[in-house]
Amino acid sequence: MYDRKSELIQLLNLQPHPEGGYFTETYRSEEKLSGTEATFPAGRNLKTGIYYLLGSDDISHFHRIKSDEMWHHYEGSSITIHLIQQDGLYRALYLGKELSNEQKPQLVVPANTWFGVTVDEPNSYSLCGCTVSPGFDFIDFEMAGRYQMLQAFPEHSEIIRMLTKPSV
Ligand code: GUN
Repeated sequence: MYDRKSELIQLLNLQPHPEGGYFTETYRSEEKLSGTEATFPAGRNLKTGIYYLLGSDDISHFHRIKSDEMWHHYEGSSITIHLIQQDGLYRALYLGKELSNEQKPQLVVPANTWFGVTVDEPNSYSLCGCTVSPGFDFIDFEMAGRYQMLQAFPEHSEIIRMLTKPSV
């Protein structure tokens, strides 16, 4: 059977991401922060970009980073980006090309926001890009623990159980 997800993993040399899905870094700016920014250390690259692939059988589990992250839709199904905002409210963003259907081909996830992602169409996949500035570093990357999230946001228990790993 023709499997575009496997083909893309091979063609783009994608690796498994700790949050779920597959990625490869495509850009890391030469330019670096000078250290005047409180949140980020001197020497941090100014900007980075990745390809990110999620299958309908994958989940991007709840996580957060310290930069705004811009998402770009390239190919395949639309996706739903599930946010638990800093004010504690849940919000869904729809990344895709059907503009009449609330979807946008570019979206921004604000810094320090818990978020996870699901693919909208069954038996499908979605190829996206994610760009961040200041640039990505796994030091800033935090996976959400299920227990910690349920304690903090009991009103969102259903989506938390869906988008966290039981063992974390
Ligand atoms: N590089 C490695 N992982 C990530 C990620 O989750 N987002 C971005 N933007 N870059 C990364």
